Amino acid sequence: SAYEAGEHESFMRKEILEQPTTAQAVLRGRLDERFGTAHLGGLDMDARELRAVRRVKILGCGSAYYVGQMGAALIEELARIPADAEAASEFRYRNPVIEPDTLYVAVSQSGETIDTLLAVQEVRRKGGRCVGLVNVVGSAIARECDGGIYLHAGPEVAVASTKALTNMFLAFALLALQLGRVRDLSIADGKRLVAGLERLPGQIEEVLAGEAELVEVAKDLAEAKSLFFIGRVRGFPVAREGAQKFKEISYRHAEAYQTSELKHGPLALIDPDVPTVALVPHDELAERNVGALHEIEARKGPLVVITHEGVDLGEVSARRIVVPRNEPELDPILLNVPLQLLAYHAAQHLGHDIDKPRNLAKSVTVE
Ligand code: AGP
Repeated sequence: SAYEAGEHESFMRKEILEQPTTAQAVLRGRLDERFGTAHLGGLDMDARELRAVRRVKILGCGSAYYVGQMGAALIEELARIPADAEAASEFRYRNPVIEPDTLYVAVSQSGETIDTLLAVQEVRRKGGRCVGLVNVVGSAIARECDGGIYLHAGPEVAVASTKALTNMFLAFALLALQLGRVRDLSIADGKRLVAGLERLPGQIEEVLAGEAELVEVAKDLAEAKSLFFIGRVRGFPVAREGAQKFKEISYRHAEAYQTSELKHGPLALIDPDVPTVALVPHDELAERNVGALHEIEARKGPLVVITHEGVDLGEVSARRIVVPRNEPELDPILLNVPLQLLAYHAAQHLGHDIDKPRNLAKSVTVE
């Protein structure tokens, strides 16, 4: 049947609101509660091959690259395998070393992004193994890879990717869990994460239920010419993705920074006209993050803080957006959902064509 925006004013909003359902789809049939692991038949790798992986290199473009950074963090944390993400558009131009015991992972919603496809071909030409995290079944990247995980997010029409991104993160969580459980991740930790993943779709729903509270915040952010998105460690790729989404549809300059790096330069830009959206999850860095908020406040920079219940912001005056807590490793996904809504409502307020932002295509299939 035709996929239509229906009663929604745009595909982007429809796709944001679908996430509780589409998130279930990527998890369905893949979680194992008894052994605290995931089963990813499509990877086509047995336990011996999974154990032989010494490094993971993730390749994607734009938002798929940023979610790749979230995925790399998950894999390092859960599987204790060194992992990183790289922009697929740069990869083939630097004559990369392809190692036989590295697992290459290509990430793409469309499965047709030319830069990602050519990166996969570079890996395979040099004898590497590349698996895909792809949404569109039978797409070029899916066919080029040795195996992979389909994202089951359903068709995504809006140029600004939302539900596919969420499912990319969840697919990385499944991969990290399976890689972890054939190595040193304990069954207790495995079960803890399986339970966390099962709670996530409902918690995404909770965040979406708070949409109305975000509209005014988004309108204020839309008035700024330039803004910062800041986060640390797990929160930094979320900040990058939040800035990207904001730029794409609001046409405002948005820059992501590690909170810890502010004092090394960009603090010079903070003033009453430059708002900062800060990610401050309830984790071991919360206190340090709050310290950075004080620095911003002292320069009269307006603050929007995406945080958890129980994080003490002290005297800092900020607009606080609270998301539910899950297992800390899975924080990025719930922190990201309000950023989707902020970008959406800012663009809506500015009267932009949300589904088809200027200068951009849904998938970039020519170099
Ligand atoms: C996301 O909002 C962007 N439109 C863009 O960065 C996108 O994620 C990128 O072009 C990759 O597309 P793909 O997932 O289809 O490969």
